[in-house]
Amino acid sequence: MHGQVAVSGSKNAALYALAAALLTPDAVILRNVPRIADIEEMAAVLRALGAAVAIDGETVTLRADTFTTTVAPPELVAKLRASFLVVGALLARTGEATCVSPGGDVIGSRPLDVHFTGFRALGADVSELDGQHLVRASRLRGARIFFDYPSVLGTVNVLFAAVRAEGRTTIINAAAEPEVEMVADMLVGMGARIAGQGTATIQVDGVDRLSGTDFTIISDRLEAGTYLLAGTATGGDVCVTNARPEHMDSLIAKLREIGVEIDTTTGIRARCASMLRPTQVQAVPYPGFPTDLQAPMTAALLRAEGTSTVHERVYERRFDYVQQLHLLGAKIDVGANGIATIQGGAPLTGAPVRALDIRAGAAVVVAGLAAAGETTVRDVGHLDRGYADLEPRLRLLGAEITRQAG
Ligand code: EPU
Repeated sequence: MHGQVAVSGSKNAALYALAAALLTPDAVILRNVPRIADIEEMAAVLRALGAAVAIDGETVTLRADTFTTTVAPPELVAKLRASFLVVGALLARTGEATCVSPGGDVIGSRPLDVHFTGFRALGADVSELDGQHLVRASRLRGARIFFDYPSVLGTVNVLFAAVRAEGRTTIINAAAEPEVEMVADMLVGMGARIAGQGTATIQVDGVDRLSGTDFTIISDRLEAGTYLLAGTATGGDVCVTNARPEHMDSLIAKLREIGVEIDTTTGIRARCASMLRPTQVQAVPYPGFPTDLQAPMTAALLRAEGTSTVHERVYERRFDYVQQLHLLGAKIDVGANGIATIQGGAPLTGAPVRALDIRAGAAVVVAGLAAAGETTVRDVGHLDRGYADLEPRLRLLGAEITRQAG
């Protein structure tokens, strides 16, 4: 694959930004929002609470001046994990929220203890009734909070509550992902007082009111990474023109290590000038190698001659897609220790496969592009949740890819 492509705004950052709009009664305008199914689903959740949400291409305008309910609709919450962010926002605005445990990709256990630890520390009462979580507080008070794990959504949810709490909140072991940093920056633009975002310690001084904003979503490092890995898997030369290298150090370092030439003068260009070398990868929280690129990275390593290992340390079931890669002839063994051993260099042959979730889908597309012959991917609805214009963008890079109806 050869050529240049521009990626959309970040899926996850945009989802957090939509939820953040609930924190103000004023209008919020979001730009560079990706045109993907998850944004529509999140908009549906916010509308069900009484917010006005208008989607016009990549611009979303929201206003949550009043809420018609503080109970998030279970059937919508079941569809995407980010919907649980309405809890922190509703708690901050109205003092109460009711929500079921959210759905999302089947990639391992996805508890909510970090969220609840944070809400309780801020003075909220958390209980469960008929499978719904009830979170209530007559008054939120700032606190020093330690997270057992730097949960991404947990950090954003507690941040939402803390911006309206009285006094100072310090979150220790916070998630440092660029998407978390971005939503904190957005909140600062709305009048919040936050410091330390993008690091493991975030400090928040509560304010009485947040105002509206006009904010542009950062570009999607995971989408960018997927195209760079598709280029790598096919021995190509791909440039993602609007990728932000400062968000992608872990991928850039690994690609260089396996022999890909990287140029960050304009966006990120990855050129495979020689044979690839095998390597070891560990998927961990940011700034480590992202779990969301673990699957396409594994697919790309099928081209590196020799034995590579990939250790998934975030989600215990994030290797389910390996069975799909086996159908293409991939030699990968997944041990009980969560480490995949990849024997690279063997030829891949096209076959019918399935997209099991967004990133598992990215892995089969990357491997399918590298395989000889034709690969058919079923259940591409998963890919539509996270990748805008996937086929046209891949075609731009030289892929032969079409979508079949039905
Ligand atoms: N965890 C806990 N306790 C909690 C929450 C999480 O122990 O209260 C553990 C989980 O068991 C898991 C780890 O923390 O082992 C990571 O979970 P985290 O809470 O950080 O993930 P998330 O916030 O639910 C977001 C993204 C995921 C991405 C992860 C990790 C959204 C909507 N989802 O999920 O994105 O994999 O962070 O970076 O932002 C995707 O885009 O394909 C995707 C799944």
